[in-house]
Amino acid sequence: MKTLIDNLYSWQECTEFDIEKIQELYRECVSKSQVDLIGSFGFGRAVAVNAEGMYIYTSDGRQILDFTGGIGVLNHGHNHPRILAARIEYQKQKKMEVHKNFLSQYIAGLSHNIKKLLPEDLDISYFCNSGAEAVEGAVKLAYKYHDANRKYVLHADISFHGKLLGAAGLTGSPELDYKFPTIPNIESFEYNNIESVKDVVSKIRQPNGESDIYAIVLEPLNASTLRECSEEFLKELRGICDSEGIVLILDEVYTGWAKTGELFNFMKKGVIPDIVTFAKSFGGGKASISGYTTRTPFYRQAYDNLNDATLHSTTFNGFGEECITAMEAINIIVEDDYVGKSKRIHQRLSSGLTNLQGEYPEFIEEARGSGALHGVLLNRDINPFLKSLISFLPAKVFKDELFVSKLITGSVISELFNTHNILTFYGSNREIPLIISPSLIVTDEELDRFLDALDKTLAIGKRKLIMSFLKQKVLKK
Ligand SMILES: Cc1ncc(COP(=O)(O)O)c(C=O)c1O
Repeated sequence: MKTLIDNLYSWQECTEFDIEKIQELYRECVSKSQVDLIGSFGFGRAVAVNAEGMYIYTSDGRQILDFTGGIGVLNHGHNHPRILAARIEYQKQKKMEVHKNFLSQYIAGLSHNIKKLLPEDLDISYFCNSGAEAVEGAVKLAYKYHDANRKYVLHADISFHGKLLGAAGLTGSPELDYKFPTIPNIESFEYNNIESVKDVVSKIRQPNGESDIYAIVLEPLNASTLRECSEEFLKELRGICDSEGIVLILDEVYTGWAKTGELFNFMKKGVIPDIVTFAKSFGGGKASISGYTTRTPFYRQAYDNLNDATLHSTTFNGFGEECITAMEAINIIVEDDYVGKSKRIHQRLSSGLTNLQGEYPEFIEEARGSGALHGVLLNRDINPFLKSLISFLPAKVFKDELFVSKLITGSVISELFNTHNILTFYGSNREIPLIISPSLIVTDEELDRFLDALDKTLAIGKRKLIMSFLKQKVLKK
């Protein structure tokens, strides 16, 4: 019998699970391969007990400096006290979550605040729950704006827009190269190459000569490779969209809310999209809320009539506690000058990483990034000894062209965690950079601690780092 009440865990019981128990349950009812994948790293064998600010505390008593920034979610750090307080207060007052029959005061207030913070007529917002959902909502709005009179949507060859069927089809990344079905008529152009955009746009025409493209979707800074569009590229792209009547969607799911120097990356370049998507730190690290904001005429034309008013919605659209969390998150970003913090972090990180590149030119190929989102590309050459050593690994890993890059970057991540108690991760697209993406509350001392740890790690050398990473993978088995 599977469902005896006695056999059900309470959430409090789960907090007592050790890593063996968690892995056993994952193998049994979540994913065996996730255990194998994450278990390759030291952090895959630790249990996170709680987290505050820049730190995660593990069951074996370690205090880990979190330099992942929650992969975009934690601009405010873990469990920001104002965000916790707002949610507790909201719950204590037994506020209502579901607003299908009532207009929501919280959707109203949150949309108003976003309108105040965004330029020109980026005034109308819609809230959902994930980044992919925001991107698909934006693309759908663009299609409806053209009233199904245009067929094509363009995206960049280097991009990540999410893993739902539509968003994955719009993503240009080897990570998602499985041929799932997706929305029809997707074409791509080369990232940050205006000639490539012009080339594609000039070819996709309706019989009357008008463009057949309803939208272009683009990350102004691609978060998985840290490649950033130039101001010149974005201005020309804006010009093309204006003259061809194409809806320009900038995906700022990762880069939004001060991550890359300004409130939104597009604000650095003075190029305003027709729709901007956001998620991640919009929820202050606590709420899974995402959304898009669009220019008024685009929304009016697409949906603003009685027949189409609910043509796009979702059950969890603008839940109360999610909205008030986002409001608090935004107010903190403004009141505590997260844009200023992001610029300060940029200066310290980019000069520190450039210095390290000078010190280890044979190890660091390139350092790039913006605000609190940086990456270093590690040189993927390995000597014949390492080549012969890894040839003993299962043949399937070599099907992954990026395996050696993953191995090298993974070895650095592993050393940073095991020896220095610092958590990092890598980006996965056509390149595999070590991503350095701290929360915006990081202090100068913490930035220096990270740079010092990376210095000590690189000083060990590629061969030794890889050997100890592989040894650790073998020993854990
Ligand atoms: C730029 C960008 N767009 C979309 C997404 C998809 O967001 P989600 O994973 O919440 O669906 C991500 C996720 O990392 C992202 O970085």
